[in-house]
Amino acid sequence: MTSGVPLQLAIVGVGRMGAFHARKLATLDAISIVGVADVSDELAVALADELGGVATYPSPDALLGAPDVEAWLIATPTATHPEVVQKALDNGLHVLCEKPLALDPEAGAELSAMARAKGLVLQVGFWRRFSPPWVRAKELLEGGAVGRPLLVRLTQWDANPPPPEFCDPEVSGGLAIDCGIHEFDLVEWLTGLSIRRVDARRLPVVDARLEEVGDVDNLLAVLDLDGGAVAIVDLSRNARYGDDVRTEVLGSEGALFVDLLPEGRTRLGDANGLRVVDGSETPDAMASGVVGQAEAFAAAIRGGTIDLPDGAASNRAVTVCRAVQESTRSGVSVELDSPQRIANLAESDQPDPLTG
Ligand SMILES: NC(=O)c1ccc[n+]([C@@H]2O[C@H](COP(=O)([O-])OP(=O)(O)OC[C@H]3O[C@@H](n4cnc5c(N)ncnc54)[C@H](O)[C@@H]3O)[C@@H](O)[C@H]2O)c1
Repeated sequence: MTSGVPLQLAIVGVGRMGAFHARKLATLDAISIVGVADVSDELAVALADELGGVATYPSPDALLGAPDVEAWLIATPTATHPEVVQKALDNGLHVLCEKPLALDPEAGAELSAMARAKGLVLQVGFWRRFSPPWVRAKELLEGGAVGRPLLVRLTQWDANPPPPEFCDPEVSGGLAIDCGIHEFDLVEWLTGLSIRRVDARRLPVVDARLEEVGDVDNLLAVLDLDGGAVAIVDLSRNARYGDDVRTEVLGSEGALFVDLLPEGRTRLGDANGLRVVDGSETPDAMASGVVGQAEAFAAAIRGGTIDLPDGAASNRAVTVCRAVQESTRSGVSVELDSPQRIANLAESDQPDPLTG
């Protein structure tokens, strides 16, 4: 395969998110959608027709018989990810998996190890990392445009809750994972600082049906970062006017403001005033991110050296989410090891070459 050959991609799970991916990727030169698989025949056929006669399959197993597929984009319900991802890896397929890779970090680590051993790309759908407003914000932060980060405020307020059976923590992970995972990933990716301690609390529940399945629909978390900086994450499913995502970074020399609504953009405030950042504007920040992550996925498969959010990134974010859930339940703060310390501990588990 040469780098110019489109990636032969199948989409597994074409509900809300899978169909969104398919519609955004259908026009890309780097990707050719060659199949869609869903246990709902109706959804698969409707989407395949819309895409122009793409082949449909009633299950991931049936898709394994499809010719020339190189990779799966997996957007099945969260709790099914490990099983479906393993099926793909077992059959030598690259994987772009919706977040999280696994609700259980140990299962996620096993899948990561399997992908590494087989030389397959396993990417997790942290699309904000590829969306221009956040990409530009990270570039500016790394270039020192606002000095040292002191406070990060991250908001994700969805318009309305999904059905209770989706919110069930056993199915989606619950609010802290299903919505919060993007924000907890962003904190460390954007600032380069590790989360060391988590204090979280639930806010009043609006939709009592969510409480019945063991979830909440409003949540606040305060995260202590390396060096004394703090991040505040607030999550809600009750915004009503739209799915609103905002990220603000207060630095020692100014501030950055990332907005998703009404359109994606980043503003930089410093001693020269407040202005919109070149290259940050996009009418649909989520669509831009979804396209950007898929292009990076295809390029990595074709041999590009690209920093992709992988299984370790998903597991780290899930670990933070679990700490948030634990703190919400217990009312006390939860300490976290830094990812570097965990990596060092894992290395120190290896036998000493001198002493055995
Ligand atoms: N990155 C984001 O911003 C974002 C946003 C929404 C959802 N998601 C993720 O996308 C995933 C799907 O969420 P959704 O809201 O689209 O859910 P959904 O219920 O709308 O869609 C899931 C689809 O998978 C199908 N399905 C179920 N089991 C299957 C199986 N074993 N094989 C094939 N198809 C199967 C269902 O029939 C359904 O059509 C979740 O993991 C969720 O976390 C991510």
